[in-house]
Amino acid sequence: MDEIRLPIFDETDIVDARQQGRKLGTTLGFSGSELTLIATAISEIARNIVVYAKEGYITLSIVGTASKHGLLVLAEDNGPGIADLSLAMTDGYSTHKSLGLGLPGAKRLMDEFEIESSPGKGTVIRMIKWKQRQ
Ligand SMILES: Nc1ncnc2c1ncn2[C@@H]1O[C@H](COP(=O)(O)OP(=O)(O)OP(=O)(O)O)[C@@H](O)[C@H]1O
Ligand SMILES: [Mg+2]
Repeated sequence: MDEIRLPIFDETDIVDARQQGRKLGTTLGFSGSELTLIATAISEIARNIVVYAKEGYITLSIVGTASKHGLLVLAEDNGPGIADLSLAMTDGYSTHKSLGLGLPGAKRLMDEFEIESSPGKGTVIRMIKWKQRQ
């Protein structure tokens, strides 16, 4: 089973997570544009770990059955967590005077997106891009 667990602390780790996502996505046969969508979603989630939680992990793995497979991105941190998830998922909401597009953008780029977070408990995001049949 291909599974890559990447500690995320700084900009270098964000770049590495992006590249590892592209690499695993390539083995699954994703197109160049799909790989870019996946890498962008990984970057946004990894950057949030660095900015808000300081450290965490991103785990990349292949999921599915013989007829359907996809790339699972699991992001976990033990940072401050998010009090209002629906607000955090709104375009333009940022506690950091930034664009506030990272979470809603990542959700749009991927096929599945689940987020669990609460203050003091950290944040877990699970997102999947499914490989469409040719
Ligand atoms: N891992 C996290 N831990 C704690 N808070 C988070 C985390 N990820 C996101 N947030 C909170 O959710 C808000 C929205 O996140 P989002 O990535 O959409 O926007 P942003 O990081 O503020 O701006 P952008 O990503 O566009 O530069 C953040 O401002 C922050 O308050
Ligand atoms: Mg962000």
